[in-house]
Amino acid sequence: MQTYYVTTPIYYVNDEPHLGHIYTTIAADVLARHQRLSGKDVFFLTGVDEHGQKVQQAAEARGIEPIELANQVVERYQSLWPELEITNDDFIRTSSKRHKLGVQAMWRRLENAGAIYKGFYEDWYCVPCETYWTETQLKDAECWEGRVCPDCGRPVERVQEESYFLRLSAYQERLIEHIKAHPDFIAPASRRNEVLSFVEGGLNDLSVSRTTFSWGVPVPNDEGHVVYVWIDALTNYLSGLGFPNPEVPAYWPADVHLIGKDILRFHAVFWPCMLMAADLPLPKRIFAHGWWTVEGEKMSKSKGNALRPATLLEQFDADIIRYFLLREVPFGQDGDFSLDALKQRYNSELANDVGNLLNRSLAMLNKYRDGVLGPVSDEQEIDRELIADVQKMQRDVDASMEVQAFHLVLERINDVVRHGNRYVEENAPWALAKAGDVERLDTVLYHLVETLRLVAVQLTPFMPAKMQQMLEQIYNRDLADEALLLSKVGGWGLLQAGHQCSKPSPVFPRME
Ligand code: MSP
Repeated sequence: MQTYYVTTPIYYVNDEPHLGHIYTTIAADVLARHQRLSGKDVFFLTGVDEHGQKVQQAAEARGIEPIELANQVVERYQSLWPELEITNDDFIRTSSKRHKLGVQAMWRRLENAGAIYKGFYEDWYCVPCETYWTETQLKDAECWEGRVCPDCGRPVERVQEESYFLRLSAYQERLIEHIKAHPDFIAPASRRNEVLSFVEGGLNDLSVSRTTFSWGVPVPNDEGHVVYVWIDALTNYLSGLGFPNPEVPAYWPADVHLIGKDILRFHAVFWPCMLMAADLPLPKRIFAHGWWTVEGEKMSKSKGNALRPATLLEQFDADIIRYFLLREVPFGQDGDFSLDALKQRYNSELANDVGNLLNRSLAMLNKYRDGVLGPVSDEQEIDRELIADVQKMQRDVDASMEVQAFHLVLERINDVVRHGNRYVEENAPWALAKAGDVERLDTVLYHLVETLRLVAVQLTPFMPAKMQQMLEQIYNRDLADEALLLSKVGGWGLLQAGHQCSKPSPVFPRME
């Protein structure tokens, strides 16, 4: 069976989950569900990034151990994911034994390849951002006078320490070649160009160990050093699969790493260089999505305006949140989250279009034919056009999913729904019923229900609970068992004459 491996970033435990975290995880879940429906053997990994100076300091400030702080936040994530219908196959913690073994094995591979050497490190460091800055960078960003961080504006500290370095410079040419030879490696295309010019500008060797804090994975055979957070964190994508047993796990390389644009350089430069040095295959694709603002404002810890998933879940079903996040903004671009926009999309696309097509189709089937599908005995050109549109939609959805164009997937499905609603108007089943044209009436109702079924199947990865409700009305039975749902995927014409549908009950009631 063909495998499919999708990952999210592992989230820092020094903040509670917010909109940005659920966005990537929902996107990954939609891909995982879609690929499972397509028959692939999927592995979907998410988790948390627990190490580093920030976590150690936050724990110290509260008078607790770093692991206790991590446990509290892990609990939040682990209870949140089922509420958002996330179907991850595993959850990796960087404090776990399996992860530490993976990081140390990675370190030894890098060392054995001669890619790591010991040196001396001196620089400016921003503790909250966990970022090192050179003097030139601070000067360029006009942050030299106050010695402040160009990202967050808080003071940077001078640091000097013995450190191991990774010879990034040795892999620069290979990385450039790889990016050029694999146009799909980094997406969207604008991000690919950004990375390419960064690498072409020259790579400096990367400091990959620290002696200034202890909350991390110890460097093998040099316990005064801990492995730098990014080497530690990136290795989760392998340790989560059991690396180093085996050295190249079954699902590796990843089909796609979904990340936010802010962590692109780590994923598209450091990670591939590490993998090349360790002689391991590179991921097939890295997709960097954009950032959300909320009601026009940047979310920030200091403003305390981060949008929390619990707040959203109090007001909306998880399905609606999932739909909105992937529909509103083309994946890869920045966007704004607003309650008005959510309600508007819901009412126009889900209540008015999908909900309406379901209600009126099942209502007419029940009113005129006691809810029973009849044979297709009078098929006309207008029907064949609808079938062709549905079938093309299935192919278009697959193609857009391959490139993570979720908004195009949803637009395409909505096109078919609108086509279905037009088809109702054009065929006027009420007039056919009145005229007693049972053959044509049955044919039209059959096409409507079959369209709805295939629309629901394609929407299932986005809105699993709502689509289950919709399919249960079409099948007139309990579909709690996912296997049953899977067996129902298929081409046009699966429903048979004589099939009984249930009465409609609103899946998408209008929101005021
Ligand atoms: N721990 C690192 C990732 C290591 S992956 C090997 C990290 N963690 S994080 O918790 O700070 O951020 C995780 C993700 O949240 C990033 O992909 C980031 O882009 C995303 N977002 C944070 N704020 C966001 C928005 N406002 N909008 C969308 N995504 C945002 O970085």
